[in-house]
Amino acid sequence: MALRKIVTLPEPVLRRKAHAVTKFDKNLQVLIDDMVETMREAPGVGLAAPQIGLSERLIVIEYFEREEDEEKEDAPKKVWTVLNPEIIKASEEKLLGVEGCLSIPGLVGEVERHASIQVKGLNRHGKPMKIKAEGWLARIFQHEIDHLNGILFTDRATRVWKPQDEVEPEQEV
Ligand code: NI
Repeated sequence: MALRKIVTLPEPVLRRKAHAVTKFDKNLQVLIDDMVETMREAPGVGLAAPQIGLSERLIVIEYFEREEDEEKEDAPKKVWTVLNPEIIKASEEKLLGVEGCLSIPGLVGEVERHASIQVKGLNRHGKPMKIKAEGWLARIFQHEIDHLNGILFTDRATRVWKPQDEVEPEQEV
């Protein structure tokens, strides 16, 4: 495995709509493992392929599977690898939360996201998968899927600031 370089604004790939993944070969497996390693090293709780300069519809997330585990320090986290992810259901209820992004260092913002969502996509071997997410996990999925469409949290934020001024974000994505 190898670390990949995380690109930051104004890198144009971050603003591009990424292409669907169609080849599930060995290179893809290496890329996925590299992305997980890069996310952990950053450290972050999510990473989208455009953030390492690749315009492909691929995200990795590592977070608590159950919302109630967010408060427990020793609760296990789970890794999700989703190719060509799509939000197929979203709650009417939305929640405000403070987000940061590994591709926009030094800035955080308050963003409204659906409280719970359902995502469909393909796993690393090309098999269909569905995920139900709520709380922060739902927020991370929405943030990462936005990356695949060239959308950054600053586009959706109701308020953006430099974190040293105020509250730190809980996680970088
Ligand atoms: Ni991000």
